[in-house]
Amino acid sequence: MVCLGNICRSPLAEGILASKLPKDKFFVDSAGTGSWHVGHCPDKRSIEVARKNGIDISKQKGRQIKVADFDEFDYIYVMDNSNFNDVNHLAQTPEHKQKVHLILNELFPDENVDVPDPYFGASNGFTNVYQMLDEVTDLIAEKLIKKHA
Ligand code: 4NP
Repeated sequence: MVCLGNICRSPLAEGILASKLPKDKFFVDSAGTGSWHVGHCPDKRSIEVARKNGIDISKQKGRQIKVADFDEFDYIYVMDNSNFNDVNHLAQTPEHKQKVHLILNELFPDENVDVPDPYFGASNGFTNVYQMLDEVTDLIAEKLIKKHA
């Protein structure tokens, strides 16, 4: 799960998807395209909306996506079109590029809808992001379990 800062959207996406997959069969992680928040905890507003929904993301630590991630992971879900472009530039091969998916295209195929960045907005932005990610990770978890578990 990849966003810009790895403190608002992708930590939520990681925590929510991980809660829907068997831990012995899947490894879910998140990263940012930027480096400002490397080593930081998620934004307290993300921690809070996750906690209200029974998910603890408070132990996550921010990191920046790296080229090795394209070998390490089978699927790379990005939150918005800007992340999509940045991650695609980092990908070295056609196989690596094929792993990169705009996350809401799982719900709205080919519509290229962004998960909006809630960082500078009001706190209800985090509730909206949570709801979008909860809905789309239902589909992703179902697909991954069918295919790999
Ligand atoms: P995120 O939100 O990409 O969902 O983690 C952001 C967090 C921090 C910044 C930008 C976006 N920032 O500019 O520091």
